[in-house]
Amino acid sequence: MELRHLRYFVALAEERNYRRAAERLHIAQPPLSRQIQQLEEMLEVALVEKGSRPLLLTEAGAFFLVHARQVLDQVRDLQTMTQRVGKLERRLSVGFVASTLYGELPDIMRRYRALYPQVEVTLHEMTTVEQLAALKEGRIDVGFGRLKSEDPSIRRIVLREEPLVVALPPDHRFSRREERLRLTELAHDTLLVYPKAPRPSFADQVLSIFAQANVTPAAVVEVRELQIAMGLVAAGQGIAIVPESVQAMHHRNVVYRRLADQHVLSPILFSVRNGDRSPELENLLAATYAIYDELGIEYAAERLAG
Ligand code: BEZ
Repeated sequence: MELRHLRYFVALAEERNYRRAAERLHIAQPPLSRQIQQLEEMLEVALVEKGSRPLLLTEAGAFFLVHARQVLDQVRDLQTMTQRVGKLERRLSVGFVASTLYGELPDIMRRYRALYPQVEVTLHEMTTVEQLAALKEGRIDVGFGRLKSEDPSIRRIVLREEPLVVALPPDHRFSRREERLRLTELAHDTLLVYPKAPRPSFADQVLSIFAQANVTPAAVVEVRELQIAMGLVAAGQGIAIVPESVQAMHHRNVVYRRLADQHVLSPILFSVRNGDRSPELENLLAATYAIYDELGIEYAAERLAG
């Protein structure tokens, strides 16, 4: 079976008509009919209901359509990813989730630029889910994100697990508490989570942390981004769970308290196209670990080649 068969079948299934499908494919109708017939002979099943108008797919045809689309999508991703890996210019496009700006991202990128001034570096703020699509489409080369997801075309390295803290307005009943707070103590508060979209997002990570602790917040309000959540905390609208590095964002009307619950952690991930071992990526990973060493941050070193 050739990719051509898949392309022809998908066009026919989408157009539900041989003439329109042939036009879309810029071929004549008879070769299209022959290729579909050949495909059915190879598979030894009918994909199209004979004589149906508009054209209908058989059960096997509908099944084949779903999987043929997936294969064609994968082939397209493979094309863009390979072109990007093979490009000779020294460029590095980095995607990052907003909260990493308050962590080590600025130090790491400054260190990288100082060491490799010949590499043209660009930074793009995007969620972890957006990073996966951007990696596949070749818009970025690496993403610093927070959500663990399974995708065979993406290689993910967990850089470290960052503790989370709770952000409270200064007049909150716990704002002066010295000892760590437990999630169960926050059950009467309105929980502000971000980002609202796309999902899954850090919002789901926080909600699942509450669910695992069997705590249901009094209300959950989804907001667009971290800065909005912090502004609403300052305004007394609720509380938010944020990575501890966000404490660097000194907000006049927000206080941060540590949490006692174990496993209230958020991973920081380094995601690249699977098999991409370009020197730019290896060097960026090394710069990250060098900054961790200097700051005494614990991590489990991994190499791209590993
Ligand atoms: C960190 O805070 O550990 C971090 C943030 C962005 C990129 C790499 C590491």
